[in-house]
Amino acid sequence: MTAAPPITRIAHADVTRDQDLTTEEVSAVLALAAEVKKSPERYRTALAGKSIAMLFEKPSLRTRITFELAIQELGGFAVNYDGPIGAREPLRDMARNLDRWVHAIVARTFRQQTVDDMADWAEVPVINALSDMYHPCQALADMQTLQERFGSVKGLKLAFIGDGNNVAHSLMLNAAQLGMDFALATPERYEASQAIIDEVHAINARLGGKLVVTTDPAVAAAGAQAIYTDVWASMGEEDEAAERRTAFAEYQIDEGLFKMAAPNAVFMHCLPARRGEEVTDGVIESPRSVVFDQAENRLHAQKALLLMLMS
Ligand code: CP
Ligand code: NVA
Repeated sequence: MTAAPPITRIAHADVTRDQDLTTEEVSAVLALAAEVKKSPERYRTALAGKSIAMLFEKPSLRTRITFELAIQELGGFAVNYDGPIGAREPLRDMARNLDRWVHAIVARTFRQQTVDDMADWAEVPVINALSDMYHPCQALADMQTLQERFGSVKGLKLAFIGDGNNVAHSLMLNAAQLGMDFALATPERYEASQAIIDEVHAINARLGGKLVVTTDPAVAAAGAQAIYTDVWASMGEEDEAAERRTAFAEYQIDEGLFKMAAPNAVFMHCLPARRGEEVTDGVIESPRSVVFDQAENRLHAQKALLLMLMS
């Protein structure tokens, strides 16, 4: 067996937001993710002797299981903590306990400020496993999925139709880093952060992608190679579900809207999905749906991220 290619280290100490990765690092994570997917046996001891704390303020299936498996399959050890961060004791004390015991922290938090504060106080790398603002691990797995499907993704159009929050933010930043065009359709009052839109325009000026922001789902879907959506009410917003069902009613990805995309388009969703709300059963179960490829790639993309932050 030839030697595994060298692993480049991510320059930033933490990945709490997509902007912590440079353009080159995004491509390097994706290349390593493809390599660990192809040859997992090469990395079985890469994190031997390393322990990682996984802190979850919110529920999870994919993120929790894929991080735990990724850590185990790299030879490391994962330990779980469920509950609010900074409630029983100050966050800065929690961070300074954890960094005496573990070599990295994975944190799913309600507020971005919480994961940023954890990164500020802990000496070890901190990875954002979903906050209100970002879902960087999801977006990396999604870009890996698109690369597998289309080869180079530069110049392809990714349309996100739905709520302009965490998943949309991370996707638009990663798409820009890879030179993709991005169309974002959100209802009024549920727009993406203007600061992130501005950052995406700045990346596009450098790398050539285009960003269209609209309230019209048909404009976003037209000719896209991928149509992506997410739940209308995120975790922590359950009491707004009825109001959001009304606001997002015209934003469902159904067969009619999906037909406006390119003939080779794929349907994407981070999951969990609410069939009959943001997507019809027919679209998510169609042969064009790649939602389980996305879920599978969470494992590989997170292995790559851990290796590039820790090994
Ligand atoms: N897509 C995703 O992050 O799923 P979980 O909430 O189950 O982790
Ligand atoms: N926007 C969703 C994503 C879940 C993976 C949420 O925050 O609940």
